[in-house]
Amino acid sequence: MAGRDLSDIMDTGKIYDELKIEFEGRLRFLPDKPEENLDSTLKACWQFASGNPMSASEAVKHPLPVLDEKQLKVLHHLLAQRVKNVPLAHLTGRQNFMGIDFLSDRRALIPRKETELLGEKALELSLDLAEKQPEVNVMDLCCGSGNLGLAVAYNNPKVHLCASDLSEDAVGLVGDNAQMLGLGDRVRIRRGNLFSAFQDRSYYECFDLIICNPPYISSAKFKKMEKEIAAHEPVLAFDGGKHGFKIIYELIDKAPLYLKTCGWLLFEVGLGQGEFIARVFESTEKYHYCGYVKDLKGDIRVLVLQKK
Ligand SMILES: C[S@@+](CC[C@H](N)C(=O)[O-])C[C@H]1O[C@@H](n2cnc3c(N)ncnc32)[C@H](O)[C@@H]1O
Repeated sequence: MAGRDLSDIMDTGKIYDELKIEFEGRLRFLPDKPEENLDSTLKACWQFASGNPMSASEAVKHPLPVLDEKQLKVLHHLLAQRVKNVPLAHLTGRQNFMGIDFLSDRRALIPRKETELLGEKALELSLDLAEKQPEVNVMDLCCGSGNLGLAVAYNNPKVHLCASDLSEDAVGLVGDNAQMLGLGDRVRIRRGNLFSAFQDRSYYECFDLIICNPPYISSAKFKKMEKEIAAHEPVLAFDGGKHGFKIIYELIDKAPLYLKTCGWLLFEVGLGQGEFIARVFESTEKYHYCGYVKDLKGDIRVLVLQKK
């Protein structure tokens, strides 16, 4: 028995090494998914084929199980799809965000590593608030798969989340993710155009935190996007109008109606947009401008405003 186990393990290692040679140079990796490389892709597809779906970030932490003939066929089929630029998260049905493996599919944007800057800042503020009050009300607009708001709620038990998106498909995926994480009783999910999903007066001045990763790609840039993204992820997730600021302006304009006094508005901005928006909103009637979060390259990616 022990001998057979050892030979299975040796076979697994041999198959893996052969796959590495076969697929070296045949897979393209996009910079907005830095966790993906040949090793993490092979391992994520391998785990899926074994019946244990997980993200690329997660798969590199696990030993490879032994695959039977049928499972090996599934693995080859997945890799053939990946060669054709089908996103890995759509093949595995999983994408990791802030340490949580979320369900991910064509219904919403695949959560990006860069958005963790916004998620971590929102979590930090929500934990500060949780020390002073019994509940922290968070609104996640343009919520996509729900990754931002759900990650904050998952890591802070005092958070009550209202999440919304214009896309009916996305709203369905948020529900699936909330259920998977066991957060159903602290999460309200609605479909709607920005704030309209929660336009009832009972939501006015109710939120401690509003977070949003809006579509902010300018129409011109949108046309030049990588095919892997444009062909597989929802158009609605990217196009932010002529200059990319359409949703951001509306967000800044309407958020004070929903925020408590001293409540926070945090949102992601595209590369090169941060300085401009920060200048415009440095002095406004309704907000204190509280700064930004930069990425490792020094680009502003998150703006932080506080209602006066
Ligand atoms: C960049 S994606 C962000 C998704 C998710 N929050 C994330 O961080 O991965 C933008 C989302 O905004 C949604 N959206 C676009 N226009 C909208 C609008 N007018 N009102 C509400 N949601 C909108 C899209 O459907 C998409 O899910």
